[in-house]
Amino acid sequence: MPPYAFFNGKFVPLSEAKIGIMTHAFNYGTAVFEGIRGNWREEQEQMYLFRVADHYQRLFKSCRVLKIEIPHTVDELSGLTVELAQRCGYREDIYIRPLAYKSSEEVGVRLHNLKDGFLLFATPFGPYLDVTKGAKCCVSSWRRIDDNMIPPRAKITGLYVNSALAKTEAFENGFAEGILLTQDGHVSEGSGENIFLVIDGTLVTPPSSDNILIGITRDTVIKLAKWELGIETTERSIDHSELYTADECFLTGTAAHVTPVTEIDHRKVGSGKVGEITKRLQDLYFDVILGKNKKYIDWCTPAYKLAKV
Ligand SMILES: Cc1ncc(COP(=O)(O)O)c(C=O)c1O
Repeated sequence: MPPYAFFNGKFVPLSEAKIGIMTHAFNYGTAVFEGIRGNWREEQEQMYLFRVADHYQRLFKSCRVLKIEIPHTVDELSGLTVELAQRCGYREDIYIRPLAYKSSEEVGVRLHNLKDGFLLFATPFGPYLDVTKGAKCCVSSWRRIDDNMIPPRAKITGLYVNSALAKTEAFENGFAEGILLTQDGHVSEGSGENIFLVIDGTLVTPPSSDNILIGITRDTVIKLAKWELGIETTERSIDHSELYTADECFLTGTAAHVTPVTEIDHRKVGSGKVGEITKRLQDLYFDVILGKNKKYIDWCTPAYKLAKV
């Protein structure tokens, strides 16, 4: 089966889904996107798509910021996503990318009087960071872009230059990930992940007002911590130095899952090993995304019809 894309209102082979070089979004970063994981469960021969509707709710919010109209409902988009997964037929973990964009082939920086497009593609996607041993991170020299510059609560393609600068700086300095601070020096998030600290047995994470993308994995972890472990999460601004004194730290994201952070700026986090609460949350999370925990099965959409149950 060739990989397929949903492009200009229909499914086509991925190789045929092309945009022109004058496309507004390509020139000016005027697109919004999502990343949805399909988690392959070998023994059931099933692909579980995680929190699909929630990703589309967030996409619609991002669209409002960039004045993009999508001619579909959340339900229709969820159905198209399932169909795309079925058509592609991958038998490994995948990443599905919905993208809504300013599609006019016109020069001129603006959001108004432009046509909108929507597309969808899927690609095989294994682990993004080391979820087993954990990640060594640094505090980035790049600051997180502010809500009044380009709003990070909207997943805008152009905003990701900020993330790319931080990620490559971290990589070139020998770290797995960079942690960005806000303009006033508080912890914001990783280049593609939200961040949590464990302090005295409770979770602490930056609030939405500290220029984070309000992550779906973040929400999943907050709920699992409360409902399964009885651990509350405090959303508050975090000082730079709390990164060095926390008992545990982990990153959350569709790509990164729940990734333990074992070192920050050459300082061990806690013991320098994967933290106990982090591990418990990670185990719970992996069961949930693979459809193994019946309580949270509504978060998982089985994409393949002929699944062994
Ligand atoms: C900048 C940024 N923060 C946080 C996240 C985590 O969000 P989610 O858990 O919804 O994937 C992502 C990934 O999409 C991201 O790109």
